[in-house]
Amino acid sequence: MKVSKFDTISELSHWAADYICKTADDCISKKGFFTICMSGGSSPAMLYLLLATEYASKMNWTRTYVFWSDERFVPHTDGNSNFKSAYDLLLSKCPIREANIFSVPITGSPDESAEKYEKQIKNFFWEKSHTDYKAIPSFDVILLGMGGDGHIASLFPGIPQLDEQKKLVVAVTAPFYAPSRDRITFTIPLINAAANVLLLVPGKEKLKLIKQLVSNDSNDKKRKLPAEMIKQSETTHLLIDNDYSS
Ligand code: 6PG
Repeated sequence: MKVSKFDTISELSHWAADYICKTADDCISKKGFFTICMSGGSSPAMLYLLLATEYASKMNWTRTYVFWSDERFVPHTDGNSNFKSAYDLLLSKCPIREANIFSVPITGSPDESAEKYEKQIKNFFWEKSHTDYKAIPSFDVILLGMGGDGHIASLFPGIPQLDEQKKLVVAVTAPFYAPSRDRITFTIPLINAAANVLLLVPGKEKLKLIKQLVSNDSNDKKRKLPAEMIKQSETTHLLIDNDYSS
């Protein structure tokens, strides 16, 4: 995991916007399309605004396909919807076609929705790059935040779905303290198949967790934070704006 420390959330968000635009350029020139998974929460808000304004002309939205690494099981018009936050801050302001936006289907039960989303993802990658249905699709960029309990996407500490190795998208019940208990989330195998993971953890509140994450010495599986289950790789970037080593 590569740790990048910035002085401000603005610098952090600019770095992330640059990284996404350059990766998109590279992917589109190499394979003709770019896939990015949006995160919920407040951490990516400035990044979304930058992509909608200062960086708008740097993104080829016609060749960009947008997904979500997790979603609350609420209507897309609900204030708690991760779709709504990314749509309001970014997607409603850029020239992206509806057909390029793959929101989590909020229909039927959470389990049915998770199954449906996994099928949509597999169909997309089969059509775009003939990725075998049995293979794990590799998103070009997955954006993540980290909760105060070390969760990523909607993979919360201690839930059985943390150990899911077959399914790529599952339904979970978030802990009592999280907004919207019914969630749909990518599993660790799908997150770790991504070509690039940007984990945005601005602010001071999570410094203790960042220390644990960076040391990544917790071999005790039970104590392992969900965030520690993200693969250690040169293209996994932890972006912070505070000095965890102080
Ligand atoms: C969600 C998010 C979640 C979020 C973290 C961090 O649906 O709640 O996807 O994983 O990224 O809770 O939230 P903040 O960015 O608001 O700290």
